[in-house]
Amino acid sequence: MSMGVPAKIFAISLRCSPAFIQNRLWKWWYQRISKAHNKVDFRFMNYGYLDEAKPVLEPEDEPYRLFIQLYEINIRNIEMKDQQVLEVGSGRGGGASWIAKSKKPSSLIGVDFSKEAVTLCNNWYEQENLNFIEGNAQDLPFEDSSFDTVYNVESSHCYGDINKFVREVYRVLREGGNFCWTDFRNEEIMEKTEKIFISTGFSIVSKKEITGEVIDALDMINDAKRERITELVPRSIRRSFETFAGVQGTPVYDSFKSGKLKYYKYQMKKN
Ligand SMILES: C[S@@+](CC[C@H](N)C(=O)[O-])C[C@H]1O[C@@H](n2cnc3c(N)ncnc32)[C@H](O)[C@@H]1O
Repeated sequence: MSMGVPAKIFAISLRCSPAFIQNRLWKWWYQRISKAHNKVDFRFMNYGYLDEAKPVLEPEDEPYRLFIQLYEINIRNIEMKDQQVLEVGSGRGGGASWIAKSKKPSSLIGVDFSKEAVTLCNNWYEQENLNFIEGNAQDLPFEDSSFDTVYNVESSHCYGDINKFVREVYRVLREGGNFCWTDFRNEEIMEKTEKIFISTGFSIVSKKEITGEVIDALDMINDAKRERITELVPRSIRRSFETFAGVQGTPVYDSFKSGKLKYYKYQMKKN
């Protein structure tokens, strides 16, 4: 299936524009998604992760299993009970809500630069230890050394300045704090990103490429996702949504399949 011209221009602009335009485009895009779906109960915006180990979930979380599994693999083995935790790029809050419930941090704050998404989350989730606020990953609205763990799921590819983001995470973490990061990159950019992690002062505890498990998840939900997009999204921007959602035959999906893009996860510590 070929990509329509507006979808192609949009995808290229998101990837290739200068930082400030990229930031604005992504902001516009996520506001648009939130507005388009503010009555629809979809709570995750990641590609998902197929986990052979099948972590145990509450029955109410089963419909979101693949998306929760990406969160779970990102923070696996990190102790959060009674700790202060931050999610950067929390989107529609499904991951933060699941972590607040199952890992029992004393407080979990989700930050996102989409005002609509933050408002939706604060209306949807009524958990005492969970709160959402508007903020930019590159200029986090917190004091130094405020958190024990910061995590980030499929959001940092939108940031115009990844250096600033990593420095901000380092700043708001306490000494010995955890930084759990997962997202997609091409190999060259991933090498540069890893150097940024290290030069900022993080030590890498573990890292893994998880592209295969992400493709498996994309394949598993492909038909349902395509149907949902057809049902909910106007024809004029449907192709852009399919591309964004990683539907089979769109550029992001094809890049995962060809190895041009890879999905990674890193667990790090602030030294
Ligand atoms: C693909 S969604 C993933 C959302 C969520 N982590 C999930 O897995 O469902 C990326 C999110 O990053 C947010 N985002 C993008 N750029 C941001 C920035 N500079 N600061 C804060 N949030 C940002 C978007 O608004 C969006 O909610």
